[in-house]
Amino acid sequence: MSGKSFLIKTFGCQMNDRDSEIMAQLLGEVGYVETSVTDQADLIILNTCSIRAKAEQKVMSLLGVLRKHKKKKPGLKICVAGCVAQQEGDRIIKKMPHVDLVVGTQNIYQLTDLLKDHEANSVATSLVADYVIPAFIPDFTKGKENKVLPVLFRKFLTIMQGCNNYCSYCVVPHTRGREVSRKVSHIIEEAHALVEAGIKEITLLGQNVNSYGQTNSVSDIKDKVTFAGLLREVAAIPGLKRLRFTTSNPKDLSDELMCCFAEVENLSPHFHLPVQSGSNKVLSAMHRKYTRELYLEKINTLRSYCPEIAITTDVIVGFPGENAEDFEETMSLLEEVHFHGSYSFKYSDRPGTRSADFSDKIDEKTKSERLQRFQSRQDEISLEQNKSYVDKVFPVMIEKNEGDSKVGRTGTNHLVHFADLDNSINPGDIVQARIVHAGQHSLQGKLHITNKDEI
Ligand code: 5AD
Ligand code: SF4
Repeated sequence: MSGKSFLIKTFGCQMNDRDSEIMAQLLGEVGYVETSVTDQADLIILNTCSIRAKAEQKVMSLLGVLRKHKKKKPGLKICVAGCVAQQEGDRIIKKMPHVDLVVGTQNIYQLTDLLKDHEANSVATSLVADYVIPAFIPDFTKGKENKVLPVLFRKFLTIMQGCNNYCSYCVVPHTRGREVSRKVSHIIEEAHALVEAGIKEITLLGQNVNSYGQTNSVSDIKDKVTFAGLLREVAAIPGLKRLRFTTSNPKDLSDELMCCFAEVENLSPHFHLPVQSGSNKVLSAMHRKYTRELYLEKINTLRSYCPEIAITTDVIVGFPGENAEDFEETMSLLEEVHFHGSYSFKYSDRPGTRSADFSDKIDEKTKSERLQRFQSRQDEISLEQNKSYVDKVFPVMIEKNEGDSKVGRTGTNHLVHFADLDNSINPGDIVQARIVHAGQHSLQGKLHITNKDEI
């Protein structure tokens, strides 16, 4: 296999970003080199997302384009991985016979074996409840020769896969399977390896991190380690400057975890807590298993532990049966919480989900109007929140150069642009910054020099 090039195009969430890194490392180990130039690649992998119909359509249209590439370069291998691969399986090959390999979400670790053995058009999409996520230590040295912009100070670490919640709109339990947690020892070993390699910030990943260790019996989770316990263990690794995690379902958000925001010094003050809707009727139809009141209570508790915490959320508008009053409840929740930011989406029918069969669907025009209203109010609130940061000082981790300026991120997950940082400051360094200007999507900062008396 030696000497061949691969290109991975990743869609969807951070779980997919991390899976793409794993596939890149596996390919590097057998001699492949990563390229960002489509024409140079001998292997193209689309790591796909099927959360909404649009995400899936993007993959299908890209596969159409790749058909032409393959005509010009018949040796080119095309692989579809991730959630669309899992969901569609051999239907992909029936529709797109130029696809060589379909690799499901629990099969990525077999990628290089599948490539070696594969006869034309193989499909590996087994999805089992007792899946054990293998130990896997990141290696930054293989297959990276042509990597355009390696981000070497900030990494994702997957702690669990799958989901048992079966929210009525959500395809994830169908594409990622039942919830399985990784062994504590594997996670800690991986976190140590990251910090030793110079990583300053780790984000722990799972579809519902708050139920870590609670639903499967991986041997060393028999003592029922909680997510908060795991988080404290990772946070204690010397040299780790920042720790984040995503995502939590409000129904499982424990006081023990919220308390970490008061006690764990390197835990960043940002919480992404998807609410989906402000209406109890809609939340119940979504099978979210919490109420608006419980959600608000959690927000209050979080703020009492950590007054500066930034809260972001996900919202779906136009869920089947959502009437004008229900939508107003989502708008009033936005007012009440004053989210720092949000991702909002029009409801989309997904195959295999319960809500796909619900009868009272909302028309596209109404969905678009509601989305527009929600997003413009959110933009105003974000700007207001950002303006409240002006003249305050925050620690900012520098991420990259952008032209003559540098860009970093606060613990609250706000981007900060600097015009005045010299080249002795590198990605991964943390500087104290005074915010001098606030825009809707980012802030401008100046290096804050403290005089000795203040230190
Ligand atoms: N339609 C629209 N949005 C969805 N999401 C999940 N499933 C759907 C769907 N069928 C949104 C939710 C989730 C985010 C990742 O995507 O808000 O939190
Ligand atoms: Fe998309 Fe969900 Fe799969 Fe992530 S887990 S890639 S968001 S469908």
